[in-house]
Amino acid sequence: MAALQHPLFLIGSLVSAAAAAFVLQALLQSPVSPEPLLVPRSDFTPNNILQSVDRLGEGILPGPEDIAVDGDGVLYTATRDGWIKRMHRNGTWEEWKSTGTHGLLGVATSMAGGLLVCDAEKGLLKVDEGGVAVLASHVDDGSQIRFADEAVEASDGSVYFSDASDKFGLHNWYLDVLEARPRGRLLKYDPWKGTTSVVIGGLAFANGVALSAGEDFLVVCESWKFRCLRYWLKGEHKGQTEVFIENLPGAPDNINLAPDGSFWVALLQLSHRRLDVVHRWTTFKRVVAAFPKLVGLLQATNSAAMVANVPADGGRIARLLDDSEGKVMYFVTSAVELEGYLYLGSLGTNFIGRLPVEGSDY
Ligand SMILES: *[C@@H]1O[C@H](CO)[C@@H](O)[C@H](O)[C@H]1NC(C)=O
Repeated sequence: MAALQHPLFLIGSLVSAAAAAFVLQALLQSPVSPEPLLVPRSDFTPNNILQSVDRLGEGILPGPEDIAVDGDGVLYTATRDGWIKRMHRNGTWEEWKSTGTHGLLGVATSMAGGLLVCDAEKGLLKVDEGGVAVLASHVDDGSQIRFADEAVEASDGSVYFSDASDKFGLHNWYLDVLEARPRGRLLKYDPWKGTTSVVIGGLAFANGVALSAGEDFLVVCESWKFRCLRYWLKGEHKGQTEVFIENLPGAPDNINLAPDGSFWVALLQLSHRRLDVVHRWTTFKRVVAAFPKLVGLLQATNSAAMVANVPADGGRIARLLDDSEGKVMYFVTSAVELEGYLYLGSLGTNFIGRLPVEGSDY
């Protein structure tokens, strides 16, 4: 009895009760209802090749997430300040068009001229000399496009694009990582009918979209499953979906067709490798998600960069380039190959990285 009445014991009980109440409240108020996220094991040895990039447009490109190059070799990117900026052949940058929004992600060229732009606030946009127009803000079933992410135009004019999540937006995308549920979809915009339909639903963060060289299939990346899917557009498997590549050593972001028919895919490093285990722990994730500062701390452990080259028929990685220390490149979201160089977009840098890839050993 004497021990129970000891003041230290009482204080201890009060502190534990307060801590328990605090955790319980966090659990009840948590914005996520998480599933375990299973991060594949990787035995990749870092090469830090991405540390040797040249920096293009340094200081004037806040978070150049994606890159597109038109038929004249003019390079476009969309930045956090709502601008579409472009680099002319002579290396000079121009602020081309402003959308006035802050969720600009994927950019893709259009045969009709101008760009198709994914805006995580407004949907699918068309941006050309005439200005900015919203092509699709809703799907035909009435659901809103809440997180347009990357687009690609087929030669028949159809636009395939991803809608990453129906719950979280770009400003709190990391909550979607913590929740790790399939809330994304692949959409198709038909410019002739003006309709938008769902091609594949139930994707765990629908991200990069690319067409194969012959347009016989497209690839869509499913970030929180660490895989990309192949959807057949032609041939005997038309309309069918299968795994294109899985167990990627990072969450696949944007994907782009390379001149030789292979694909470059950026692989997000969602956390420090030693912290991967916390993504399996749903109670922990539920509590952390209730505190924006803790979410920010966990998100900040995403401090490395990696891109992979995948052959045209998928199934394996042919080349893997990284900056495991996040010294120069981090949060790399896209890789585009043009005339022997790889151009790297990122949500973390204020420049585009450029690296020679032709005739190199890596
Ligand atoms: C670079 O090219 C653009 C587009 O052709 C042109 O408007 C600009 O004046 C050029 N700048 C320089 C410094 O040559």
